[in-house]
Amino acid sequence: GKSGYEHYMLKEIHEQPRALRQAISGRIDDFAPAVDLDIDLPDEYLQSIEEIQIVACGTSYHAGLYAKELLETHAGVRVTVHIASEYTFNGGRDPWRTLVLAITQSGETADTLSALRAAAHEGAQTLALTNTLGSTVTRDADDTVFIRAGPEIGVAATKTFVSQVATTVLLTVHIGQLRDVLNSQTAADLLGSLRTLPGAVQQVLDQEATMKQAAATYADSDAFFYIGRSAAYPVALESALKLKEISYDHAEGFAAGELKHGPLALVTPETPVLAILTNNAAAEKTVHNVKEVESRGAPVLGVTSDDQLTDDLNTTFEIPECGLLEPLVANVALQLFAYHVANEKGRPIDKPRNLAKSVTVE
Ligand code: F6R
Repeated sequence: GKSGYEHYMLKEIHEQPRALRQAISGRIDDFAPAVDLDIDLPDEYLQSIEEIQIVACGTSYHAGLYAKELLETHAGVRVTVHIASEYTFNGGRDPWRTLVLAITQSGETADTLSALRAAAHEGAQTLALTNTLGSTVTRDADDTVFIRAGPEIGVAATKTFVSQVATTVLLTVHIGQLRDVLNSQTAADLLGSLRTLPGAVQQVLDQEATMKQAAATYADSDAFFYIGRSAAYPVALESALKLKEISYDHAEGFAAGELKHGPLALVTPETPVLAILTNNAAAEKTVHNVKEVESRGAPVLGVTSDDQLTDDLNTTFEIPECGLLEPLVANVALQLFAYHVANEKGRPIDKPRNLAKSVTVE
């Protein structure tokens, strides 16, 4: 059941600290530091790959964009991220050296399965990242890593997004160490940030009333923009998707630097802008973009852990510091924002119109 929560979505938002602890439980050796994901793909193979091609849809695609940031920065491997329905495998002269990583909560998404199969047919090795034991993707892929988030009933993906990214951090450390590009200090920083994450997420959940208040303030708007850079950019896309799915408002995520190349024309006093100003995402540059939209009269809600910025901006929601994974903490704050905007509007949050939990047709 919903354990006293009004909606499954809210229950699942609140389950995130536990989901994250499950994702990392027994998989980290803090002393080495090292990770054990029980991966069958041989070490020599992971050392030799030239590219990882990620295929996914919707929220899982956003997790893929975040994964690209992590893998390219810390595992020394080129990564391309593909909307599964737009994907055509291209493995160059040596398809074997391309690892295709399918990210799918359900393990049943038709577009993702067909992308994976097409790549396997061309000779690529395949790895699945999923939440669902016994799902089709676990049978199709050469190897599977589970995100262990527990069942997700709400149509809008919440805890599975953060668990997907958290599990990708482990994968990044595993591959980065095998390829000798990740020093033990950075590995320790990444794993430390992962260990801090459940507590940081809990602190955000404890401030739900503040976010509910912010949502009530803006709930009359019918267009919302989200901006962020580097790892905060996929979080901007994901936060906008969440809001549009459950509130039916127009919501769009932009790379903060792209605003002035067009979208700024949409910004008015009627369009709230949610700015993700996390410490590792060039926040000082994004602040500049915040000033640009503020001067057009747009109300801005900045999500940040930086006291300096809290003083600088009109409205901020403060999150705890969380090292390299701070954008994920901001994501949780923005899940609460989306939920409360939709709830203010009386939407059927767990079953938005026209949407299904798993999309088994192409
Ligand atoms: C958004 C959402 C969808 C799914 C997408 C992929 O909240 O739930 O965008 O993320 O349909 O589903 P999976 O991950 O099951 O392949």
